[in-house]
Amino acid sequence: MAAKRSTPSDPSDSISSVMKETRLFPPPASFAATAHIASFAALKKLRAKALRDPEAYWDAQARELEWFAPWKRTLQWKHPHAQWFVGGKINVSVNCLDRHCATWRKNKAALIWEGEPGDTRTLTYAQLHREVCRFANVLRSLGVKQGDVVAIFMGMVPEAVIAMLACARIGATHNVVFGGFSSEALRERINDSKAVLLITQDAAHRRGDKVHLKKASDAALSECPTIEHVVVVQRTDERTAMKGGRDHWWHELMDAASAVHAPAKLSSEHPMFILYTSGSTGKPKGILHTTGGYITQVASTTKMIFDLKDDDVFFCTADIGWITGHSYIVYGPLANGATIVMYEGAPNHPEPDRMWSIVERHGVTIFYTAPTAIRSFMKWGESWPRKHDLSSLRLLGTVGEPINPEAWMWYHTVIGGKRCPIVDTWWQTENGAILISPLPGATPTKPGTATLPMPGMDIDVVRKDGTSCKPNEGGLLVVKHPWPSMLRTIYGNDERYRQAYWSEFPKSRTCAGWYFTGDGARRDEDGYIWIIGRVDDVVNVSGHRLGTAEVESALVSHRSVAEAAVVARPDEIKGNVLVAFVTLKTEAARGADLVTLREELRDHVAKEIGHIAKPDEVRFTEALPKTRSGKIMRRLLREVVAGAAISGDTTTLEDLSVLEKLRSGDDE
Ligand code: PRX
Repeated sequence: MAAKRSTPSDPSDSISSVMKETRLFPPPASFAATAHIASFAALKKLRAKALRDPEAYWDAQARELEWFAPWKRTLQWKHPHAQWFVGGKINVSVNCLDRHCATWRKNKAALIWEGEPGDTRTLTYAQLHREVCRFANVLRSLGVKQGDVVAIFMGMVPEAVIAMLACARIGATHNVVFGGFSSEALRERINDSKAVLLITQDAAHRRGDKVHLKKASDAALSECPTIEHVVVVQRTDERTAMKGGRDHWWHELMDAASAVHAPAKLSSEHPMFILYTSGSTGKPKGILHTTGGYITQVASTTKMIFDLKDDDVFFCTADIGWITGHSYIVYGPLANGATIVMYEGAPNHPEPDRMWSIVERHGVTIFYTAPTAIRSFMKWGESWPRKHDLSSLRLLGTVGEPINPEAWMWYHTVIGGKRCPIVDTWWQTENGAILISPLPGATPTKPGTATLPMPGMDIDVVRKDGTSCKPNEGGLLVVKHPWPSMLRTIYGNDERYRQAYWSEFPKSRTCAGWYFTGDGARRDEDGYIWIIGRVDDVVNVSGHRLGTAEVESALVSHRSVAEAAVVARPDEIKGNVLVAFVTLKTEAARGADLVTLREELRDHVAKEIGHIAKPDEVRFTEALPKTRSGKIMRRLLREVVAGAAISGDTTTLEDLSVLEKLRSGDDE
């Protein structure tokens, strides 16, 4: 069912795309009639104008926001470091809250929240504003200063949104760590960012069970010297150990806090948040985003791509622990004064129709999710959405990985009733905002492509030598001009920032120095961009990005493991799953119970990183295929797990018999 895709092992491999899709879906006339950008011609004109003068384009977008002081320079570009709206002063929480509270939107629902057990809470803009001001005062009273890092390790509860906005209000840099991560992963992210305060909750509801976030936090904090205070939201009736002097209940602090707070006047380049993501080497990267450029591009893309109107109800199913949750649950929709729906739990709890029940009960008009979720919905069957009235929906979106045309068609037909346009949005944690997407009232779509770069974006598919690819020729996806919501650096490691994104196409006589996305792509004859997949050792599992090196280093931290190589195998639901090849230490291999050890290793990875990183399969082997210089040939392992015939060059392989054994499976 999942579309075939090729994920070459390194950029020097040739990139080929096997997808052929010719169906074209023009925007429905009724949708275009009221859309912000209402025709393809208008979009083309806007893109051409913005490409001629990107700074003027972004300047106009930034003017849509409220600034305390105007900027003196739109862009200051010293390759590879950008500063946007230099000299401008702004506060993101003011743009998301105060400016709406000064209008009729004051009593409009900002956040409709639904807990997994079925409880609900609605916060109007005025109520959300009060909560954010109070928590801003709480943070200040605990000694948090402008520029301090605050870690947030929470489930999907309204307090997580309040905490993020309160950080933005006082100028603290938030570091949200996905609630599904292990305590080891949390510890690493707290220590790398030197966070001074942690906000967490007793436990989160998930699939009828509880995830013990405070317990995991306590385990992490045994070795986090920079944390001074912990604020704990009481979400459940779990008994929770509180450490005197360090731990505080959210509700107690909030009861005592004033709802009046003067927002910090922050410079446009003030560090707004750090979000860790996987790279092709072991340690996760702390992606640093700043203030003015981020909110400008996030607000503008939300309005255009989701064609946001005041009567829309916007439901993004991402977790706030990922960039999609940051940009398209919290900041983009609220900056536009929208109503957001936020759901705490699993999509199939108590039954597989939970999402559709939410859509029906809250009158959701825009639904934004990931292809992996759509494939699960397909597997659960049409009968679940058919039980509900989905006629409130007018627009659908996807993000996170290539969507296979079958899933696109299912989404279009079963969920969208053939009337809703689909926006397939391509972007990355590093980008901050969507960079490639159709506009729903303007762009004719084809199942499986994110179509065209957004206005203001200069994006190309190029060969290794930097020349542009011909139509339908596979190449590397690059961004040629800086954009406002781009990452500014990797926190604490600028050298890695230069290496990871700017070394593939460095500044030279013929090249201005381009940002390399890590993705392979092709452009079809209409200029539409088709993502082929990652060209580095990063794998997309259920729309989450995982560095195989990270999983390998977790495996080798187990006492029995000598060496490990992790590769992806295409999977119908998850896009990819991980397969680990493991060699054992001689002592451990002797008389080992491999069935038990296999489970132990999978659990070990879950403990080190989190459940999302758990390999689907662990294969024991006596040796791994290596080049003569000792580099593991992951390309060959990928072919082994795909069951494909080994193709390409094996002449550099040190010991060919290793490969034969892996293929015949007699290595155990
Ligand atoms: O390979 C691309 C894939 O997800 C990667 C970025 O992952 P992450 O930083 O976790 O952000 C995911 C959510 C923004 C990209 O390098 N990707 C993301 N969106 C798409 C996609 N691949 C194809 N089509 C998309 N729409």
